[in-house]
Amino acid sequence: MQENLKESDTVLDIIKKRRSVRRFDGAEIPHEAIEQILEAGRWAPSGANAQPWRFIVVTEKENLKSIAECCYYKVFKSRHVGEASTVVVICADPDAGSQTYILDAAIAGTNMTLMATSLGIGSCWIGAFEEQTLKKMLCIPENLKIIALIALGYEVGKTSVPPRLPLSSIVHYETYEYKNEPDLITKKKSSGPFSVFGKLLRVLFNRR
Ligand SMILES: Cc1cc2nc3c(=O)[nH]c(=O)nc-3n(C[C@H](O)[C@H](O)[C@H](O)COP(=O)(O)O)c2cc1C
Repeated sequence: MQENLKESDTVLDIIKKRRSVRRFDGAEIPHEAIEQILEAGRWAPSGANAQPWRFIVVTEKENLKSIAECCYYKVFKSRHVGEASTVVVICADPDAGSQTYILDAAIAGTNMTLMATSLGIGSCWIGAFEEQTLKKMLCIPENLKIIALIALGYEVGKTSVPPRLPLSSIVHYETYEYKNEPDLITKKKSSGPFSVFGKLLRVLFNRR
């Protein structure tokens, strides 16, 4: 029990420690660390275990700069992509057998950013990019979809922590809107066509 408690503390610590890092020092990330990050992605859960993700690892400086040119939202450019040491382009194959291929690939990305954090490597999700241009540039087959890019590198300075909403404003227990009926769900369950038969059985066996 004590051991489990320690482990869960560590998971939450890493989750809270992960930041979107936008200033990198350009130092190379050891290949073993990249492999560990990819391994964390590989072990993500996926619908029907279809594992629809495909990862493209980009490390060449010139290629990183070209990719950065395709990463912007309106006038906001993600210049940090060009300063990253490595970019992992997360693609998903819609025909791999999972209806949830976008979610699956996003979970793989989450695993990878958490693994990077635990290795002392900064990361940043990039969701704003010109998909078609990137696809051509990286020779990605037409049927694949680019889900996101993960920029990786060693952080310069310290990124401030963006606030999170308190649990009290995002969590709803039992139903979204509060109804003063504690057995609302039980009542709903017993309103089906077999409810009379169910009630009879409960009376016979003295169950609620
Ligand atoms: C799906 C997704 C797409 C994102 N796209 C971008 C992006 O294009 N450029 C960027 O600089 N940050 C991007 N971010 C990072 C968010 O801005 C960041 O997660 C958010 O501000 C919270 O900060 P934190 O990650 O440090 O907790 C993205 C994050 C997610 C999850």
